[in-house]
Amino acid sequence: ALSPNGCPISGRAAAFTPFNGPYQVDPGEALKWAREEEPVFFSPEIGYWVVTRYEDVKSVFRDNILFSPSIALEKITPAGPEAQAILQKYGFAMQRTMVNEDEPHHMERRRLLLDDFLPENLQKHESAMRTLTRRYMDRFIDRGHADLVEDIFSEIPLTIALHFLGVPEKGAEQLRGFAVAHTLNTWGRPTQEEQLEISENVGRFWQTANRVLDDMIANPNGEGWMYETVRQHFKHPDAVPESYLRSMMMAILAAAHETTSNATANAFWTLLNNRESWEELCETPSLIPSAVEECLRVAGSIVAWRRIATDDTTVGGVDIPKGGKLLIVQASANKDNRHWENADDFDIYRDNASEHMTFGYGAHQCMGKNIGRMEMRIFLEEFTRRLPHMRLVKGQVFENLPNVSFRGPSKLLVEWDPALNPEKTDP
Ligand code: HEM
Repeated sequence: ALSPNGCPISGRAAAFTPFNGPYQVDPGEALKWAREEEPVFFSPEIGYWVVTRYEDVKSVFRDNILFSPSIALEKITPAGPEAQAILQKYGFAMQRTMVNEDEPHHMERRRLLLDDFLPENLQKHESAMRTLTRRYMDRFIDRGHADLVEDIFSEIPLTIALHFLGVPEKGAEQLRGFAVAHTLNTWGRPTQEEQLEISENVGRFWQTANRVLDDMIANPNGEGWMYETVRQHFKHPDAVPESYLRSMMMAILAAAHETTSNATANAFWTLLNNRESWEELCETPSLIPSAVEECLRVAGSIVAWRRIATDDTTVGGVDIPKGGKLLIVQASANKDNRHWENADDFDIYRDNASEHMTFGYGAHQCMGKNIGRMEMRIFLEEFTRRLPHMRLVKGQVFENLPNVSFRGPSKLLVEWDPALNPEKTDP
């Protein structure tokens, strides 16, 4: 078989699948062969050009005109007719948000909606975050064991996200299930059968998000980023149209917490498996911010993102025809020995760790990156102080939701001897 540029498809490229096997275990490691032998290859399984080297990933992110993000939220597995009918029944109409908008609309919108993300405006969330973390830890600190995903990491980022957005907390439990359906719907490979249930949940998610939005439109004086968005819509309806409000409300209700929950669980998984680094953080908490960056490099929660070529071009010397879709694998860029010294080593002292691609790069770089970083830092500060002797339960496997982009364990079991808690021995 030939790829769309007329070149033959290698055996390894033909065998590549991101939905199971090595990519699900460790996407950066799974593409090591490609970084060496075939850094940009066409995957017939998904119909995408897979981009694996750091410089290529960065240059694709950098040029959002030639490489449009318009397909970033497209279903990577097209819905069958029955699944489409279900979505239609709910009036599902996901269109452009921020992350998949083209210029010039994107920048105009981004500028209008940037203020709430500035560090000085995030301070109030920081103290709420710390209080919540302490309160949640109090519930299990004397128990001696926990599933950190279930007991804390899947909950607090959701609460903080709702505060940030201005969305009422009631019904939050439902949103976690909806976010899973949205991930599988957009980035997974569900069977026709599975698509039906997923579509019901995505449809309900859409309706729920729209009800929240309708309340905000009816009474737009509240506090929070989505209220601010509604007010900007009234002032600048062309730059912030109603279709944006509706699509963004649903997309951000997933993106603003799932990414951070997963990144935190990945960071704890990584650190507890690198015990010396964990103990160094317990000794020297000032190392935590750089450890957060190194965790985002080796174990990010978004491992691949998508772009479409708007013209004939080349990436890494490979011809890409106009309309070619690209899977740009950040997890692979983050392990590229051409950019990183000893890329496979986990090193909390690495001085350029923040050059990772986990938040994307360029015009669309994650607007919420400082919220994600702040939450990860506070979790680590509180846990290293109050549960430095915590250990991973042995023999666990990392179970991820099978999909191309979002990565994080569904469980994270830890244990400790409560008699040795520092606040008992040294109150
Ligand atoms: C965009 C990752 C947390 C809001 C993005 C992109 C990535 C990403 C990869 C696309 C970047 C690109 O195309 O260049 C992450 C990760 C997070 C995180 C790994 C946590 C560790 C958050 C949070 C929020 C948020 C907490 C909001 C509260 C956004 C928005 C965009 C975005 C609004 C669109 C920016 C644009 O297109 O201009 N994020 N994100 N993110 N993220 Fe995040």
